[in-house]
Amino acid sequence: MRRTIIHAGFWLLGILALTGCKNNSESNGNDSKPASVSENKQEKGLKDYYSDYFPMGVAVAPNSFEGESKELILEHFNSITPENVMKMGVIHPEPDRYNWEPADKIANFAREHNMKMRGHALVWHQQTGPWIFEAEDGGKVSKEVLLQRMKSHIDSVVKRYKGTIYAWDVVNEAIADDSTQFLRKSDWYTIAGEDFIIKAFEYAREADPEAKLYYNDYNAIIPEKRDRIYKLLKMLVDRNVPIDGVGIQGHWSIYGPSEEELRKAIDMYSSLGLDVQITELDVSLYPWEKEQRELKPGESDEFTPELEQKQIEKYDMFFEVFRDYKDVLTGVTFWNISDRNTWLDRYPVAGRKNYPLLFDENFEPKKAYWEVVEFEKEDD
Ligand code: GLA
Repeated sequence: MRRTIIHAGFWLLGILALTGCKNNSESNGNDSKPASVSENKQEKGLKDYYSDYFPMGVAVAPNSFEGESKELILEHFNSITPENVMKMGVIHPEPDRYNWEPADKIANFAREHNMKMRGHALVWHQQTGPWIFEAEDGGKVSKEVLLQRMKSHIDSVVKRYKGTIYAWDVVNEAIADDSTQFLRKSDWYTIAGEDFIIKAFEYAREADPEAKLYYNDYNAIIPEKRDRIYKLLKMLVDRNVPIDGVGIQGHWSIYGPSEEELRKAIDMYSSLGLDVQITELDVSLYPWEKEQRELKPGESDEFTPELEQKQIEKYDMFFEVFRDYKDVLTGVTFWNISDRNTWLDRYPVAGRKNYPLLFDENFEPKKAYWEVVEFEKEDD
């Protein structure tokens, strides 16, 4: 299980995104030619099995809307989240320059196909251009200037997608990795204190009073971090900060979380009157490691039947719990489309293949998929 927590890999992803390089996570991996999705088209997609429960979402890149990956998205999902292109470093790379095109492409797709769209993410310590924290003299900006810049960013981005984006991850990952600390000592926090969180929600509410506003974080099920996230959320709710929900990222594995931990976390968060969403679901085959490292000689990345079975059991349990909580769970979003291409192929071990999703490298539903959708008989 993930105990200590640094997403070192995110920084790498951030640099790639900021330099405009296409990282692999921006590719739909449509390079090889497996059996066509349409040849194997099912009568119902994931979203249809879950139409009485919650929307089914997927993280996408602008080039996901081509060929087979487009077909798969339309067949199985009714909600999309931009994986990278709405992060501040990509959409607002310089003080007076916004890069709307990639994000517009995703928003247009959502409108054209009548899909829900989540916005991700307004304020984060990673994949954020350094300019936002810099003063003209090369030092750090004042709190006042930082909040002004944040307001202007939130205003421009949220207003542009008003009516299309129904929910925003307003603040991402503000809790410290060090379990003895509360808030992460990011530049946001060091300059503006906890007000950066409060103001981000206030500015987002002003920019679009209709949008649902979320706090989003990882390891949100692990008791020690769950308690710190709960403390933050309670503080926001008690102060009448305009927050509607909490995003549990859901970067999980065949090793955890347990059913008990998952139920307990959803109970705690929803007891605050907040909606809960699973915003970045994948089920890794490997135990959590925080540091990036090279593949060890002889290290296997084979998807063995044993690992497959463990993954099926986890997916089965997770979705059974999700269905039980359909009154508070307002969405489940997978982080990437299929095992053909996942950020977990690169993090924490570049070149170690992972198979964390419900669709295989040929875009075919895996056994875990059937376990997730064939629940009607069991639940009766
Ligand atoms: C975090 C972020 C996501 C993404 C993933 C890795 O969970 O919220 O935007 O960067 O890391 O892909």
